[in-house]
Amino acid sequence: MGTAVKPRAGRVVRVSGPLVEVEGLAGLSMLELVAIGPKGISAETVAIRGERATLQAYEYTGGLRVGDPAEATGGQLTGLLGPGLLGRAFDGLMRPLSSAPLWLGPDRPASADDPTVLARDWEFVPGVAIGARVSPGDVLGTVPGAGSVEHRVLVPAGVAGEVGWLASNGPLHALDVVARVGGADVRLSERWPVRAPRPFRDRPPGVVPLHTGQRVLDLLYPLARGAAAAVPGGFGTGKTMLLQQVAKWSDADVIVYVGCGERGNEMADVLDGLAKLVDERTGGRLIDRTVIIANASNMPMMAREASIYTGICIAEFYRDMGHDAVVIADSTSRWAEALREFANRNGDLPAEEGYPASLASELAAFYERAGRVTTLGGRTASVTVIGAVSPPGGDMTEPVTTDTQRFVRALWLLDRDLAYARHYPAVSWTGSFARDEESLGLWHSANGDPGWAGRRARAAALLAEADRLADLAEIIGTNSLPGHERMVLLGGRLLRDGVLMQNALSANDGFCSAAKGAALLDLVLDVVDACQRLVERGVPATVIERADFGPVLRAREEAGPGDAAGVSSRRAEIIHRLEELG
Ligand SMILES: Nc1ncnc2c1ncn2[C@@H]1O[C@H](COP(=O)(O)OP(=O)(O)OP(=O)(O)O)[C@@H](O)[C@H]1O
Ligand SMILES: [Mg+2]
Repeated sequence: MGTAVKPRAGRVVRVSGPLVEVEGLAGLSMLELVAIGPKGISAETVAIRGERATLQAYEYTGGLRVGDPAEATGGQLTGLLGPGLLGRAFDGLMRPLSSAPLWLGPDRPASADDPTVLARDWEFVPGVAIGARVSPGDVLGTVPGAGSVEHRVLVPAGVAGEVGWLASNGPLHALDVVARVGGADVRLSERWPVRAPRPFRDRPPGVVPLHTGQRVLDLLYPLARGAAAAVPGGFGTGKTMLLQQVAKWSDADVIVYVGCGERGNEMADVLDGLAKLVDERTGGRLIDRTVIIANASNMPMMAREASIYTGICIAEFYRDMGHDAVVIADSTSRWAEALREFANRNGDLPAEEGYPASLASELAAFYERAGRVTTLGGRTASVTVIGAVSPPGGDMTEPVTTDTQRFVRALWLLDRDLAYARHYPAVSWTGSFARDEESLGLWHSANGDPGWAGRRARAAALLAEADRLADLAEIIGTNSLPGHERMVLLGGRLLRDGVLMQNALSANDGFCSAAKGAALLDLVLDVVDACQRLVERGVPATVIERADFGPVLRAREEAGPGDAAGVSSRRAEIIHRLEELG
């Protein structure tokens, strides 16, 4: 990185939307930030050819002229990581959305005039003794009141030695020194270049599920902590709703919600929703363990490009403290559009559908930052990444969708027909996949639910068989099918409507515990078995089909989110009434 002894000044020679070309910045380095124009808007160096450099501007370039000044800053796009992130919303460059000072910048001091972040006083509670020997990742102390998960101040990477000095109990500002380690100052907040992955020790073997609280995901297409998942779906198929449900209910410690080129009011809804919800684990509000990065459709386009890295960087910061973080990006297609827009203006040779040839590697770079790791301090923690994909016209063969599928462990494909039929979440059981399904089955088996894998396999087989028979019945008529096949059709319907459907807006059904999900699925599978026994005993299929399955279908709404016993207690009665038909 170029170190600026004195500011290097150049001038603007070309402007095309977010693309700005400058001249006269000798020694400029790739990714270095440049302040351009009278307002000093931030732009990142993306190409250098001799005296000329191409920059990607993060703010509106309206009003910018040829000949305007351009000042190299000597630093890259960095995030200021410290207390004060949880419970708040920032833009793609990590500026608090409530005010507009330049919060994120190339080692220039963050503006001290943001009343809500920097001027806030924090308390620091030392966790080590003066004279202790510490190394990167060790906890120096904690900051009470910085959200609902413990905020730990760590020894930064590259710093080690004896603790020479520790701040006493505050009050401290974000940029104040809290400790001196091996002669180096450690501040309450740390700057980190958002595009550079934060270091960790290694990736421990084994998988641990992330419980999302959404049955179709947890029962059929489970995700491991530290894995990546994508949610492709056409317009209005429920991507945002599903991601919001995961944000609200998954058993992660910290959620980073990146609203990327989507409607601003949706992000306001997320904030509102989270602010109203009580976090059952902490007793506080859910928002107090959430960070929102909002770069709505009406905000400058290139900040969208930065926003997903900003989001990941914040998640890694909490990971390093030992927390499990989830990054949700809605939508990665809007992010890819920013890449395309810039590449086109830059005259890059377009690859598929106008996207730059680097699309796949850029997507990989994003999803690969997911991981379950042993941190430098020796804690096991994770960053899980979940991205929505909005293929234009619902075309699943377009480049962002097809490339994304290669880099994720789970694909939760939303089906237009299911959404039209108001089967929500509209997660398709023909196009979705979960690559860690087998190892997660072993985890369940070792952790109190040995039936998990078998239950899942039966459900998947029942859905597939019911689909096949429904196609057949359309041709030959349901009445021409043998009784046991009609029971499969019936079972498929009970499974879809009684287990996979989940009403996001219902107090009982919005979130589902693992135990209640298992109980509901067991209920349906037992009912199907009972029906098959009746057919074997010679009871006509029509008689069975006319029985009242309402109690099976209503169980998910009637039992509370954690009430597995409530579901199981219905089972005996429902089966008993069915047996009476024989
Ligand atoms: N789980 C659910 N429970 C109840 N209703 C749902 C659910 N999922 C989606 N819906 C309904 O579908 C509508 C559209 O959902 P959503 O906005 O999430 O779609 P989207 O795929 O994000 O759309 P866009 O393509 O515009 O981003 C919602 O307003 C809601 O009415
Ligand atoms: Mg949406």
